[in-house]
Amino acid sequence: MSETAGIDHITLCVKNLPAAEHLFTKVLGFHIIWSAQDVGSERSSMDTIVVQRGEAKIALMQGRNKTQRSQICEFIDRYGEGVQHIAIEVDDIDAVCREWEQQGVRFCGETKNGRDGFGPLRQRFTYPLFPDCGLFLELTQRQHGHEESKTFVRATVEALYRDIERAQGTGVQRTIIDYETLPLPFGEEEAATASYRQAS
Ligand SMILES: [Fe+2]
Repeated sequence: MSETAGIDHITLCVKNLPAAEHLFTKVLGFHIIWSAQDVGSERSSMDTIVVQRGEAKIALMQGRNKTQRSQICEFIDRYGEGVQHIAIEVDDIDAVCREWEQQGVRFCGETKNGRDGFGPLRQRFTYPLFPDCGLFLELTQRQHGHEESKTFVRATVEALYRDIERAQGTGVQRTIIDYETLPLPFGEEEAATASYRQAS
């Protein structure tokens, strides 16, 4: 099984990016490592800032509505401000994608390849983890031999944004696995008993 290095970053949807930037940089002691404006398509886009403190990277995103509502604004309409995705850093993204796909995991688009000033960056999004839940996962591979990317790549972020916009356009809400054909081994009653067992 391929190795997982840890959490690469956590991404939050926010309503007011300057306010969130102030919170993280002036109050919480993070510093900005990357930013990009108007990343998306001619239909909608977002502004983004990535802040870091120690090893912890947090990406902040605010939507821009153009001819259609930004997926960031739609996310906030449905779920409120907060975590949109968690990026897991892996040492071999292709191996993990194969492993997960064999388990029935569904991804939103193909793996994206970019390069920052330090090295190659490969990223891929899953669909949301649960029905009626906005949270999804990202796989990130930064280490490639002696090179290791440290920030983000505008073209990649744009491509990932467009994948979600395309999925949003279909009006169909997909999940990371097909819960119809791959139900988790709990009915509502068993789930209640299982959580009782864990709690006791
Ligand atoms: Fe991400």
